[in-house]
Amino acid sequence: MEQTLCIIKPDAVKNSFVDEINKIIEDNNLLILKSKKIKISKDIAESFYSEHKERPFFSELVDFMTSDYSVIQILQGENAVANYRKLMGATNPNEASEGTLRAKFAESLSKNAVHGSDSLESAQREIDIMSKIFD
Ligand code: RTP
Ligand code: MG
Repeated sequence: MEQTLCIIKPDAVKNSFVDEINKIIEDNNLLILKSKKIKISKDIAESFYSEHKERPFFSELVDFMTSDYSVIQILQGENAVANYRKLMGATNPNEASEGTLRAKFAESLSKNAVHGSDSLESAQREIDIMSKIFD
């Protein structure tokens, strides 16, 4: 069964949206296999988002992702990667379809509530990076 890496980002944790988000995830046939609330370290954030390291928003992204607690989760289900991306909605909440997690819970482009792996390869890479936090 396919797995994907989900992060409930610091804005959504602070706004107490974790339970609501997880209910929607489960209602969409995704099993929350593992879940842990942690403060992501700078090293992990930089390696996790390394594809964006040359982008102008990289330091803002790393600063935000390390600013407070996040909830790191492994989700499992049929077509989990694509299904969860669809459920999340577009990166910019102003462009996210109605009913998606980002349309409902995101504050802005940078404080956009949730992360999800964008391919099977990314999912494997991201699960590997985060696996040590579940030990
Ligand atoms: P994520 O990786 O967090 O699930 O988001 P995504 O795939 O939808 O978007 P991605 O292109 O991977 O960008 C990662 C995060 O960087 C922030 N971002 N800021 N200021 C900007 O132009 C900008 N562009 C992207 C967003 O918070 C995005 O989630
Ligand atoms: Mg991404």
